[in-house]
Amino acid sequence: MATKSKSPKGKTKKKPAAKTVKAKPDAAEGLRDLFEDELKDIYGAEKALTKALPKMIRNATSEDLIDALTDHLDVTTRQVTRLEEVFESIGQKPQAKKCEAMSGLVKEAEEIMQETEKGVVRDAAIIMAGQKVEHYEIATYGTLCAFARTLGEETAASLLEETLTEEKDADNTLTQIALSSINLEASQVEEGVEEESAE
Ligand SMILES: [Fe+2]
Ligand SMILES: [Fe+2]
Repeated sequence: MATKSKSPKGKTKKKPAAKTVKAKPDAAEGLRDLFEDELKDIYGAEKALTKALPKMIRNATSEDLIDALTDHLDVTTRQVTRLEEVFESIGQKPQAKKCEAMSGLVKEAEEIMQETEKGVVRDAAIIMAGQKVEHYEIATYGTLCAFARTLGEETAASLLEETLTEEKDADNTLTQIALSSINLEASQVEEGVEEESAE
């Protein structure tokens, strides 16, 4: 097999220079700037989620799932307030930025609901969409906690850690609901057959 990196004469081809991203004029200059930017992003994300969760609740049919999502909506509302405390603890005014990732995750949740009939299969889809959101939040809060600790912002770090624990709990609850009944029930729904409303 001929190697693509060498020309027929054995000369190494010049690789095109990889393009790097040009920084915006207001780009973060240090870890503190980056920390504050990401705080604004997750603040926007949590706010967006308080608007998206009610639709997921309305579309769910399993009582366990409805309870879990309703509970997490309350938790999310408190997380918004907790983020305001985080901003305060670092001497900043709370400011929200549109979170592109959350907006994509919410859009995907809507899509997957459109692609499933209301019932256990849609419930399984809602759990999947919900867990994608939780994993995004876990990654974000984990990083923010580490940034806060490095920056010596202990109050912010412990507030963020509280939220991180809540997100992990929500993720575990969704896993349990999926594994205890919904996935199995969804697997028994025959394609092309109307779902029975009562057991
Ligand atoms: Fe959250
Ligand atoms: Fe969450």
